[in-house]
Amino acid sequence: MRAVQVTRLDGPDAVRVAEVEEPNGDDAVVIDVHAAGVAFPDALLTRGLYQHKPDLPFTPGAEVAGVVRSAPAGAHVSAGDRVLGLTMLSGGMAEVVALPADRVFALPDAVSFEAGAGILFNDLTVQFALRTRGRLAKGETVLVHGAAGGIGTSALRLAPTLGASRTIAVVSTEEKTQIARAAGASDVVLADGFRDAVKELTGGRGVDVVVDPVGGDRFTDSLRSLAVGGRLLVVGFTGGEIPTVKVNRLLLNNIDVIGAGWGAWTFSHPGYLQEQWAELQPLLASGAVAAPQPEVHPLEQARQAIASLENRSAKGKVVLKLR
Ligand SMILES: NC(=O)c1ccc[n+]([C@@H]2O[C@H](COP(=O)([O-])OP(=O)(O)OC[C@H]3O[C@@H](n4cnc5c(N)ncnc54)[C@H](OP(=O)(O)O)[C@@H]3O)[C@@H](O)[C@H]2O)c1
Repeated sequence: MRAVQVTRLDGPDAVRVAEVEEPNGDDAVVIDVHAAGVAFPDALLTRGLYQHKPDLPFTPGAEVAGVVRSAPAGAHVSAGDRVLGLTMLSGGMAEVVALPADRVFALPDAVSFEAGAGILFNDLTVQFALRTRGRLAKGETVLVHGAAGGIGTSALRLAPTLGASRTIAVVSTEEKTQIARAAGASDVVLADGFRDAVKELTGGRGVDVVVDPVGGDRFTDSLRSLAVGGRLLVVGFTGGEIPTVKVNRLLLNNIDVIGAGWGAWTFSHPGYLQEQWAELQPLLASGAVAAPQPEVHPLEQARQAIASLENRSAKGKVVLKLR
């Protein structure tokens, strides 16, 4: 089969498409992959900068959409079913993957393989962050950093269903404002000067929740943008720098900084992924939550697709088409 291969840890430029052995499908659900999601950790993996460090050579990719080729007896899916699958950390950018049945989920007919490959990794992270960790309540306002990225567009698509009455998107360029609007943002502001813009938009009150996949130097202004009782959800650090917090700010303003590490939570909470999908699947099937509108690249452009997250040119969720 063809698969994306990382053979050296010097960044996306060294990414190749190669012929490799198909995975062993014993006791696993074997999926013919039609599309695979690309996420920021894939770019980090190509430089050995992610916490997960697979042996070289390896295939990146955390999520796939495709058709079941075979499944163990008694599994909840069978040959021919349209499904999504979570490899979680690596192995997804390949024509065939083999996964334990509890990492495989039925794909609603209304959702294409390309859109489907952009759902699990981001939507389940965002659902976990906003609901389980962030205690998002009905009528609250959510500020979303990196709003034209994978996590960002997911937060904009899901927050209204989870109770938010308003979403404010933060993006770095005018071009990216279109992506955030298409994902459902109520308002879009530029990263440069976002604190003043948020103050004006909220009449000085601030926002209830910040979804922060960026970190870096905007962190303190994010804290200053919170209303009393507000929560900042730490999701990632695409900005590079890991911020520090002076805890007197938390005390003085009655605000929380909350870690939202979805992967680690799923490993320590068996059955959580299935619970999450049981809630999200009908919303996607009915259209109550819109499917992602990914930027789709052919497999041969895996290098450019992964690089687009590192060089910040990606627009929305990025997906590779394999079939
Ligand atoms: N906590 C969890 O469980 C979990 C799960 C999945 C992903 N993550 C993390 O969430 C983060 C976002 O992942 P993603 O797949 O959504 O990434 P993405 O699609 O590349 O989006 C990230 C956004 O970050 C912004 N950004 C700001 N400074 C940047 C820089 N120096 N380089 C690149 N981007 C920069 C960009 O928006 P602007 O250009 O508009 O600023 C970009 O759209 C990553 O750190 C990832 O590891 C965490």
